[in-house]
Amino acid sequence: MSLLALRVEGVRNLHTQEFDFSDKLNVVFGPNASGKTSLLEAINLLGTAKSFRTSRIDHVVQMDADKLQVTGPVRSTISARQLGVQRSAGKTRIRIAGETVSKASLLAHEFPVQVITPSSHALLEQGPKFRRKFLDWGLFHVEPKYHQSWLIYYRGLRQRNAVLRSRAPRQEIVQWDMGLAEAGEHVNELRTTYLNAFVPVFRHYATDLLGEDIEVSLNSGWKSGLSLKSALEAGLEGDRQQGFTRVGPHRGDLVFRLAGSLAQSRLSRGQQKLLVAALRLAQIDHLGQMTRRAGTLMVDDLAAELDREHRGRLLRRLRSCGAQVFVTVTEPELLDVSGWEQVAMFHVEHGKIREVL
Ligand SMILES: Nc1ncnc2c1ncn2[C@@H]1O[C@H](COP(=O)(O)OP(=O)(O)OP(=O)(O)O)[C@@H](O)[C@H]1O
Ligand SMILES: [Mg+2]
Repeated sequence: MSLLALRVEGVRNLHTQEFDFSDKLNVVFGPNASGKTSLLEAINLLGTAKSFRTSRIDHVVQMDADKLQVTGPVRSTISARQLGVQRSAGKTRIRIAGETVSKASLLAHEFPVQVITPSSHALLEQGPKFRRKFLDWGLFHVEPKYHQSWLIYYRGLRQRNAVLRSRAPRQEIVQWDMGLAEAGEHVNELRTTYLNAFVPVFRHYATDLLGEDIEVSLNSGWKSGLSLKSALEAGLEGDRQQGFTRVGPHRGDLVFRLAGSLAQSRLSRGQQKLLVAALRLAQIDHLGQMTRRAGTLMVDDLAAELDREHRGRLLRRLRSCGAQVFVTVTEPELLDVSGWEQVAMFHVEHGKIREVL
């Protein structure tokens, strides 16, 4: 899958303009504050209808502009489909091949896009929510049954929590447990199956990029050895006191270890960046293997925190993963693009983007 071209309007500091992309490597370079990250934001918007930097898409809308609009054709195996995202008057509109759709998940399906930024180490250092999101992204794209089970589970969870908050009697709460436990076990089984296939791909990338063998395990979100049904029963009194459900896959987490210790406490900042890159690369690679639809991978500020040797390794891995790649960098000399075919170079200055040869 690749984005063939893009038209941007009203995105941060970018001028209204259109460009064609390479389906291999696109290098975006220019000084600080020129608009490099803004271009990646525009591409990310087309695949997710969200910003990767802020939780409020309205912050991405150009100051004083009345709307933001990104459109472009995305090619899958045979044909290309036109995608479009517009934000105006506080409303987001999504179009796929001429039809208005209401769900951003449909867009994600058309255009799977991943981004690695200088703050990506948050995936390792911050709460489990970020790691669950990572895991769910992979499952959502390769396992058609996942989305449905996930929706059933979260609906059940919301209902159980509402009953807990209303201080309902035990019997009323327990009524929800059977269905919730069944859906939760299913979510966890699908996560386990996904990881069994994903982890070897990830370790391969991690060993090459960091020179370390990283172990990955899944924490299901409840005590191991117990069924979820039993864990819900065992936790019921505590749940009633707290007013919410404390066990289940909504509490699940991914754990990364290096020689037995938690990876985030052992790795240097550069290594953390490479670990997150290995995760995203492996996810895109695995997606390509499972669905024959390699996605698009963007690396914002690739050179930050990486020495020459590791920049080279990361670029080589980006080349071999089969995805369409976008990288931003302040000076193009920081990247050795030899070995790549079809490199498109874009120079950004004061929000104006120009393709250079
Ligand atoms: N909503 C907005 N409207 C107009 N301009 C904005 C908006 N949001 C951000 N900007 C400006 O866009 C400019 C470009 O930002 P961007 O993050 O794309 O720069 P960059 O080229 O990635 O820089 P760096 O190399 O420092 O990462 C900045 O000067 C920023 O202040
Ligand atoms: Mg930037």
